This record gives sequence, C-alpha cells and structure tokens, in this order.
Amino acid sequence: MRAVSANLFALLFLCALASVFYVWSALESRLERHKRGFSVPGGGAFYQGLPADLSAKTFRALLAVPAAQRPHSVARLEARNLTDQTASAGNRDYHVNGDNKRSALREGPVKSGSPVEDGIFWSEWLEGLLPAGFTEDYAQAWRERARAHRIVKLEPGCGRISNQLATFADGTKACVRYGINADQVQGETLTYYLASLLGITNLPPLILSQLNSDSEQWAAVRTRIGGLQWSDRAVVSLTEWVSNLTGVVTPAPLRQESSGLHPVLGELRDKTTAELLELMQWTDLIVFDYLTANFDRLVSNLFSLQWDSRVMERDTNNLLRTPRGDLVFIDNEAGLVHGFRVLNMWEKYHNTVLGSVCVFRKRTAQRVAELHRRRDARKRLLELYRDSEPLSLELGFLSDEHAGVLQDRIGRLHKHILHCKGKYGQL
Ligand SMILES: Nc1ncnc2c1ncn2[C@@H]1O[C@H](COP(=O)(O)OP(=O)(O)O)[C@@H](O)[C@H]1O
Ligand SMILES: [Mg+2]
Repeated sequence: MRAVSANLFALLFLCALASVFYVWSALESRLERHKRGFSVPGGGAFYQGLPADLSAKTFRALLAVPAAQRPHSVARLEARNLTDQTASAGNRDYHVNGDNKRSALREGPVKSGSPVEDGIFWSEWLEGLLPAGFTEDYAQAWRERARAHRIVKLEPGCGRISNQLATFADGTKACVRYGINADQVQGETLTYYLASLLGITNLPPLILSQLNSDSEQWAAVRTRIGGLQWSDRAVVSLTEWVSNLTGVVTPAPLRQESSGLHPVLGELRDKTTAELLELMQWTDLIVFDYLTANFDRLVSNLFSLQWDSRVMERDTNNLLRTPRGDLVFIDNEAGLVHGFRVLNMWEKYHNTVLGSVCVFRKRTAQRVAELHRRRDARKRLLELYRDSEPLSLELGFLSDEHAGVLQDRIGRLHKHILHCKGKYGQL
C-alpha cells in the first residue's frame, strides 16, 4: 500500500512539473512574438495588421497576380507598315567607352562650371562624362551574336529558379528569364525597347528566343529544360550577363526623408563629379520607372517603408553598378504590362517618386517632349520592336488600352518637366 501511494505521489509530482513547463513555454513564445511585433522599426499599424509571415514576402508575390485576373487581354502584334524613323540610342560602345581621360575626370572634383544649365537640366559638360552604357551599336552586335550561338549550359545564377544563367558556346553568358506568364517576358522586352527609344542605355541588351524542340540553339540543354519544366515553344528573354556588378543604395537626396533632387546649386555644389554622374543616371531611372510604372525598384522601397524604416539604407531592387559607376537596370519585367495592370495600387508612390525630382537629362526630356507632341509612342515603340526582334509577332505587343496609358504617362511626365521649368528657370 505504501509502495502504491509512493508511486502515485511520484506520478502526481511529474504531472505538476510537466504542467509548469507547458505553461512556461507557452508564455515564453507569446512574449517572444510580442517582442518581435513591436521591435520592428517604423512598424506602424499596417505592419501589425499583417499575418505573421506576410512581412517576409517580397514583391515577387505581388508580381505573381494570375493572368486570369487581368481585366484586359494583351493584343497580338499587328504587322503594320509604319514609316516613321526610329530613334537611335547613340553610337558609343559600352565596353570601350572607359577611356582614361573620362575616367580621370569622373574621379576628380567638380569643375568650376555649374552642374545644371537652363534651369532644370544637367550641364552638357557633365553629360559628356556620362558612361555611354550599352549603346545601340553595341546592343545590336550582342543581339546578333546571341542569336547565332548555341547555349551549352543552363544553371542557377540569375536570381529565382525561373531565371537561369546560360553559357553560350563562345563562353559568354546571358540571363534567361522564363516568365510566370507571357506578360512578364513582354514587360521585360517592351521596357527594353522603350529605353532604347528614349536613349536610355542602362539596360543590358536583350533578345527573345523560343524553346522549340527542333531549336538548334537549345539542343545541348534539352534535358535541363525538361528538368525545369519549361514548356515547349515558350518564348523566353535573354539579357547579357555582366560581370562584377554590385548593389546600389538610393542616394540621400532621393530618399523619403529628403526634400528631393532640385536644381539648386547649394544642394549640388558639394557633390563630386562621380556622385553627380550617378545622380544623373538616377534621374533617368526615375523618369523611366514612372513611364513604365515599374514598381519593383525605388517605388517598392517606398512601400516597404511602412514596416521597414531602414529599407532605404539597403541595396535598391533590380539595380546594379559596374565598377566604373554605370548603373545597370535589370529585371524590368514589372514594367509596362504588369505595372499598368496594377497601377491603382502603386500610382501614389509613382507620383511621389517623380515629384521628388526636378533635374533631368536634356536628351531624355527632349525625347519625352517629342513623344508627347507627336503622340506616337505606340507607333514608334511597335516599329522599333518589330524591326529589331524577329519573335515580336510571337510574343505580342501592348494592348490598345496600355498603349494609351503609356502615351498618357508621357504627357504627365512632360507636364511635370514643364512645372519644374516654371519653378526653377526658363529654357
Ligand atoms: N544581366 C545580369 N548580369 C549580371 N548579373 C545579373 C544579371 N541579371 C541578374 N543578375 C543577378 O541575378 C540577381 C537576380 O536578378 P533578377 O533579374 O532581379 O532576378 P529575380 O527575377 O529573381 O528578381 C541579381 O541581383 C544579379 O546578382
Ligand atoms: Mg529582381
């Protein structure tokens, strides 16, 4: 009897211990969750209202809006006879542009001349030092080579799994993007050609390619394509892979806490030439992302500020820099097609970012003015795309509605430039 009660007592004691342990660990994990919820800097009501795992989601999740939800289907490319001349994007060669004189000037202090002229434009002397980027000639030569060479290897190295690092038979490389749907490849491609129309040379050259089972170009990596479950006949984009790229933090004048980038000498005088050249490229980036409604770069940072007050101190999405200081705008698939579809959600952020800049590259502003005056953005973009890309018919073009949105944004941008002109000086 005594042994039984001793056993019973021991059992009760163990149960009591287990209950204390259970209550303690539950309390601790609640405390931990509580702490995490409130230690996020700047985490406002929006953040706290989110489900536990949503804060970790990236804009990739937003990009993945199913095609079925789209209000408008994408128009097939019309094969029309268009006679206008397309704009060429300069003729300097990207990789031979780093001549020593330019590089030395870039490193040095700012000349006595003003960095701005005619009120709101970067000065001509400064423009003259701007890296030439991927010029039209360079891009054309790359496109020809990329179409001619077989792909001998496909491997990770260009971001998520649906992007693959491809090696051509000559050893050069490209990032292949297999879009979740055709819109993304279209966005990437049309954005590239719009940049070309505007004379913005920061985007690596791009071609389209089709994964036909009889395609010579893909024959050597057929097994790998099967493993990736890429569908036969899909049209993918290939962009030149550039070595030695590093991340780019948004410059101080373009951060949320700053009052913006204005053609005010006091604000620009202390900058080095290299800093001014980078700012100049940023002004093109902001103009470009506004036109294409690309939210997957600076705008997404602005959005993230709601729960991450230090986001501006980190590298900007989809923007890289060469060792020489050229900015490289990668991953433009959110532009034009998808960006226009989700405009309601992002427009206020696009307006904020554009509103923060009142200095522009003269050539970019001139091309915007011309596209506005002639109201022919659709026609010129279609013509350039159709003439440069043999698979344009296969991939299709902007719907009429989206072409209208583009023309409308060109008008708004032009109006903003005029507003800056009115505020800061005359031409
Ligand atoms: N053209 C390129 N040249 C060199 N590296 C690239 C290039 N494109 C992408 N990458 C590399 O892959 C990473 C992810 O690229 P990105 O195109 O943004 O992919 P994701 O679709 O996953 O966002 C970049 O940060 C960069 O390191
Ligand atoms: Mg990306």
